[in-house]
Parts: sequence; C-alpha cells; structure tokens
Amino acid sequence: MSIPDIGIDLGTANLVMTYGRKGVVLSEPSVIAYNQCTQRILAVGKEAYKMLGKTPAYIRVVRPIAEGVISDDLLTQCMIREFLQKVCGHQLVKPRIIICVPAFITDLEKRAVGDALMSAGCRKAYLIDEPIAAMLGAGVNIGRARGHMVVDIGGGTADVAIVSMNGIVTSHSVKHAGNQIDQAIIKYMMNHYKLLIGEQTAEQIKKTLTNLYDPSSEVTMPVKGRNILRGLPDTIEISEMELFDAIEDEIFGIMEAIKKVLEETPPELVGDIHENGILLTGGGALLGGLRELIHRTLNVNCVLAKDTMHCAAKGTGMAFQKIHHLLDGFEGVTIYKYR
Ligand SMILES: Nc1ncnc2c1ncn2[C@@H]1O[C@H](COP(=O)(O)OP(=O)(O)OP(=O)(O)O)[C@@H](O)[C@H]1O
Ligand SMILES: [Mg+2]
Repeated sequence: MSIPDIGIDLGTANLVMTYGRKGVVLSEPSVIAYNQCTQRILAVGKEAYKMLGKTPAYIRVVRPIAEGVISDDLLTQCMIREFLQKVCGHQLVKPRIIICVPAFITDLEKRAVGDALMSAGCRKAYLIDEPIAAMLGAGVNIGRARGHMVVDIGGGTADVAIVSMNGIVTSHSVKHAGNQIDQAIIKYMMNHYKLLIGEQTAEQIKKTLTNLYDPSSEVTMPVKGRNILRGLPDTIEISEMELFDAIEDEIFGIMEAIKKVLEETPPELVGDIHENGILLTGGGALLGGLRELIHRTLNVNCVLAKDTMHCAAKGTGMAFQKIHHLLDGFEGVTIYKYR
C-alpha cells in the first residue's frame, strides 16, 4: 500500500498540511508550548496558541518560525513531528514531504528546513519556492511564456514575485506583514491612549476594522486593554481612520515592494501583468480595501486567490502530481530533492 504524500506550508503564523488527494487536512498556528523543567511538549497549534501570554514562568509558548525562516531548529522539528502524528498517526513507512520555503532564503536556511523535516520523520524531503507553490495552488498555468505576479502577505513577510515559464523572474521580500501590522496597532494604542493591548486583541482589530481604501472616522469599534497610567482596565473607541494612520507605514512598505518588482520586470512581462492582474495570496490579502488600494495606486487589477490562506499548501500538495515534470523543468531552480 502506498503512503500518501504530505505537503506543508511552514508559515510564520500558520502551518498548513495537505495529505495525499484529500487536500488540506490541517491548518493551525505555528506555535508550540513546552515545560521548561521537564522539557516535555505540552501542546502545539491551536491549543498552544490559546496559552500565549497566559502561562506561568515554567511553561514557554514559542513561535519557532520568525519572518519565514526557522529560528529554533529543535522546537520546529518537534512541532512538525507532532503535526505529522496528528495527520498520519504512527505509520511504519515514512511519507514523502514537499515543503514550501520563501524565495529569498539562503542555502543554509533551506538546509535547516530539510534537516527539520528529516528529523521530524519523512523518507524524502523536497523544497519548493513559496510563490511557485502559491500560483500552483491558485490554479495558474505558470508553464507558458507569460508573466504572472503574485503578492503573498503572510504573518512575517510580504513576498512579491513575477513567475514565467515555471521560474521566478524577479522577486522581492519585505518584513512588512501581518505581525508587524499587529505591532504597529499595539504601538499606536500605547502612544495615543496609553492603552496596553495584547497581540491577539491587535490582530482582532486589524481583521475587523481595517479599511485601506476609504477609511472613515465615523466607523469605530471598542478596544479593551489596560490603561498604563492608572493601571486599570479601560475601553477606547478607535475609528477606521485612526487605524489607517496606525498601519500606514507597513502598508506603504508592501506597496513599495510591489512597485520595485514592477520596475525591475522586463517590459514584455509587465504588459502580461497588466492583462492578468496581480494574484493576492496569504492571510494579509484579506486586509480590508487592499485590492482597491493597489488598483488605485499602481493602476493594476488584483485578484484575491480562492481560499487565500491555504493557497501555498495546496500548491505543495499539487506539486507531487507534477513531480517528475517539476524535477526536470526546475532542477536546481525551485524544487529539488534534499536527500
Ligand atoms: N481577515 C483578515 N484580515 C487581515 N489579516 C488577516 C486576516 N486573516 C488573517 N490575517 C493575517 O494573516 C496572517 C497569517 O497569514 P498566513 O497564514 O498566510 O501567514 P504565514 O504563511 O504563516 O506567514 P509567512 O508566509 O510570512 O511565513 C496573520 O498575520 C493574520 O493576522
Ligand atoms: Mg506564508
């Protein structure tokens, strides 16, 4: 009996896994909690995420991926192993895994990802560039001599790439993405209202109130936190307009990255992109008004990928069906056999 192959998108914010032809079977925060005294893993994913900021000192809750790359090798291995067990149970034969990695990471960082997979338990590991995976997952035919542009806004980085004939022509990555937007909201609330709020509250405000196209000062939402002057709980009303001010610099950073890639792209391909539009993927693509803002600022249409947060993972899963073709067509470029 053949063992289904596994596709993984190991993101800064979320880990998404596909299992054979079933497609996406797991999508959970990339978080792990462990007991510092006994060194035992206590929880991963959703369970560990709930513990963030709420544990005694001897329990550590960690995000082992930072800005798209592994920041803690051992905890990443443990986290992947736990997730693999959730999805496959205890199998005798280890699966093959394709994992997507940001286009800009170094060979050393790629090796760390390969090592983490092998130690977590797989018989063969393949790496694929995230923009390629995202495009495959969104159903784009990238094999032709036509330019396609993808903007993937995740938790740690925003990656912009132009793909043609199965390869990346130009790409750029900036550290202006979901987490940095959350931090900007935390900073704004502190500077303007002396209100201390947590990361989860900041993320909730971002998801609910962001309007990047025509923010109004009339639309507001209440924000609960602790007033640091009085040390007591407090509630402040914040408007779309204020939120826009708070996160403007981060959004500007993303817009600049898109502009830079367009400027560096050969003119023939720019024409294609004008025709095809920009494909938006990743959780950050859901920011309210982003599509309209890009269209107004850069005069290029945007398409929000279907199931945007799972696009890259779906692409890794689909890559197995094309593996021979990909290994031939992409050798040494975007996908390779690690061992
Ligand atoms: N509706 C929404 N509006 C705005 N942001 C959102 C929304 N839903 C999710 N996000 C944000 O998307 C980010 C997570 O996206 P995603 O899962 O694509 O990131 P990732 O792949 O883990 O990160 P990276 O690719 O940078 O390593 C988080 O910062 C989350 O707050
Ligand atoms: Mg991602």
